[in-house]
Amino acid sequence: MPAKFITFEGVDGCGKSTISKEVCQALIDMGHEVEWTMEPSENWLGDQVRRSYSEEISPFTEAFLFLADRATHTDRIRKHLADGKIVISDRYSDSTIAYQGALLSDELIKQGIDSVDWLWELNNRIIIKPDVTFLLDIAPEISLERLNTREELSKFERQGYLEKVRANYLRIASREDRYVIIDATQAKQTVLNEVLLILKEKV
Ligand code: TYD
Repeated sequence: MPAKFITFEGVDGCGKSTISKEVCQALIDMGHEVEWTMEPSENWLGDQVRRSYSEEISPFTEAFLFLADRATHTDRIRKHLADGKIVISDRYSDSTIAYQGALLSDELIKQGIDSVDWLWELNNRIIIKPDVTFLLDIAPEISLERLNTREELSKFERQGYLEKVRANYLRIASREDRYVIIDATQAKQTVLNEVLLILKEKV
């Protein structure tokens, strides 16, 4: 079965937005019908998620905001896939498992629950499983240097936190065959070429 649903994941500053857009264009140039999409979404649900970045909110509220956005986003993805299109998403469910998993781990472990497993289970009720997920893997120390040249860092963009996020991504990758880990410290063109080489075999 050709790959139809492709996601890009990684810590802030890994370059997935740039790479996923260029991959989208390359697939279009190859003659495929492709929809590029992202989370948080570009609608009112995504706006609520983005608003929460600057609010003091419970980590559970935060997780459920991302999930609420995802449920509606998934309906749109389902429609594109039914129309026979390839869908590329810049972040999807694994972002919640990695980021909110890192945030909720201390709280949930007191209840004897593994936050990654718990969020995994919640997401599984909502999502379409991607056919391929590219993890643009990079040490937060390096990715944050890239972001430092941009505007003010968000609450997600702290190094210690992102190290836990990265560890969660690597944990998910180790148990999911759909994962392809790409060294995101390489030059942009090299990363792009590696992704396209793999995708040409899959789409
Ligand atoms: P990001 O793709 O980095 O957007 P931008 O390039 O505009 O900064 O995503 C925004 C932030 O949201 C990022 O720090 C990761 C976080 N996030 C989560 O914590 N959980 C999620 O489920 C998603 C989709 C994103």
